[in-house]
Amino acid sequence: MSGYLLEMKGIAKHFGGVAALDGIDLAIRPGECIGLCGENGAGKSTLMKVLSAVYPHGSWDGEILLDGQPLRARSVRETEEAGIIIIHQELMLVPELSVAENIFLGNEITLPGGRLDYPAMNRRAEEILRELKLPDVNVVLPVKNYGGGHQQLIEIGKALNKKARLLILDEPSASLTAAEIEVLLAIVRDLKAKGVACVYISHKLEEVAAVCDTITVIRDGKHIATTPMHDMNVERIIAQMVGREMNQMYPSLPHEVGDVIMEARHISCYDVDQPQRKRVDDVSFKLRRGEILGIAGLVGAGRTELVSALFGAYPGEHEGEVWLEGRKVDTSTPLKAIGEGFAMVPEDRKHHGIVRDLSVGQNITLSVLERFSRLTRVDDGAESVAINEQIKRLALKTASPALPITALSGGNQQKAVLAKMLLTGPKVLILDEPTRGVDVGAKFEIYKLMLELAAQGISIIMVSSELAEVLGVSDRVLVMGEGQLRGEFENKGLTQEMVLAAAIGQTGRQGS
Ligand SMILES: Nc1ncnc2c1ncn2[C@@H]1O[C@H](COP(=O)(O)OP(=O)(O)OP(=O)(O)O)[C@@H](O)[C@H]1O
Ligand SMILES: [Mg+2]
Repeated sequence: MSGYLLEMKGIAKHFGGVAALDGIDLAIRPGECIGLCGENGAGKSTLMKVLSAVYPHGSWDGEILLDGQPLRARSVRETEEAGIIIIHQELMLVPELSVAENIFLGNEITLPGGRLDYPAMNRRAEEILRELKLPDVNVVLPVKNYGGGHQQLIEIGKALNKKARLLILDEPSASLTAAEIEVLLAIVRDLKAKGVACVYISHKLEEVAAVCDTITVIRDGKHIATTPMHDMNVERIIAQMVGREMNQMYPSLPHEVGDVIMEARHISCYDVDQPQRKRVDDVSFKLRRGEILGIAGLVGAGRTELVSALFGAYPGEHEGEVWLEGRKVDTSTPLKAIGEGFAMVPEDRKHHGIVRDLSVGQNITLSVLERFSRLTRVDDGAESVAINEQIKRLALKTASPALPITALSGGNQQKAVLAKMLLTGPKVLILDEPTRGVDVGAKFEIYKLMLELAAQGISIIMVSSELAEVLGVSDRVLVMGEGQLRGEFENKGLTQEMVLAAAIGQTGRQGS
């Protein structure tokens, strides 16, 4: 016996003529956590889809051995029965179903007559959520009532409910807060101690370094190196990922911050289901021309609600005024907001950012179709020039603009959403978690782009849970907590500690 729980040998997978995986080996021991690292589009998710039979046996080349025996699974159900459980990068929850129903989807507890045993499922779901430190989630409410971070934990709960020998976590923490990530890492450590093997994929490399025993780096579908973590550090992982040393995480580009261009006055948002509860409570702030304004805070602080309200995308009741260039403007719908010069890249790309049935190019031009439609015919020439410009500007990795958007890697889908909004030529660009799931190299490109846009006089509001990023690119930082503005800081000598203290309500404000 090899001592391996699982071995993948010479895995190759093509999409059309393009090799997404080009002969990859991966071997995992029981209780081992492998960090699978690589840039956007390197092939990480594809390799895990091969392993979990999302791509069934026969649709790829190579061999998979489980306990030394060939595994030729034709469906995810089969790999799940073998104990291989995958948590996908894109959430797979059904918004209308309850939290418990989602956790038990395809895995329901039934009564002797065949009817669903809701009390048992609800009880078990509550147990799982306690383990995930989410005791206040109501398991009978629809999943759509909860925000991105909670949904991601619910998705993890769904996996914990299955009997895993190998757990694959593909970007499990992208929308989690630091505290939630700690809970997740504790769970992974606990599973390891019980002998469960894990493959952990994350662009948050500190997290990978903290929990993984072994690091496997792939680039362009090829295996680069497999190294014990104790011989590695974050810098070395990055160097292997990008094929060179990266000595700077944040670009610097001086840009002038001008006069006030936008003002949000007394914005309040009410909870969709409990209209008496305020999600955003009387928030006012100003934004200057060419300024990058970071909005920090814990999940649930009301950041996404606030910026959605500015863009006319908040689903519930809200009030307040938006002023642009000295004029009160109507941003009550996204279309009106775009007309006034606002653009927004939402946090939840799968539900609000992309149209799954359209191509990369169609997605990019979606927001400005009128500009390319002369009377009724769409001007294909101008459209494809504009699309190609954006693809180049953002270094978006796609074999062709005609590919379906869902064929792009997660990070490249994010770039496509960004490209779409830039085409509208905004004065105020709202970015909600702009680098979620984006690799270190591409993050640098996105920051550079933000700084270039700011230098061109575009004002940017960036909501981000990564404090390092907020401090790395913002000119000024707002901190929210429980729907209120808890602090406002010029980003000079500002530290993560100061921002966190404000987020949990321990400080006042500096500057204005
Ligand atoms: N269904 C598909 N059709 C065509 N090409 C695809 C398809 N799925 C993936 N690809 C391509 O295969 C390559 C690998 O993609 P994959 O999603 O595995 O990357 P990844 O390493 O997970 O990236 P990320 O960090 O952005 O999630 C990419 O170039 C992608 O465009
Ligand atoms: Mg991926």
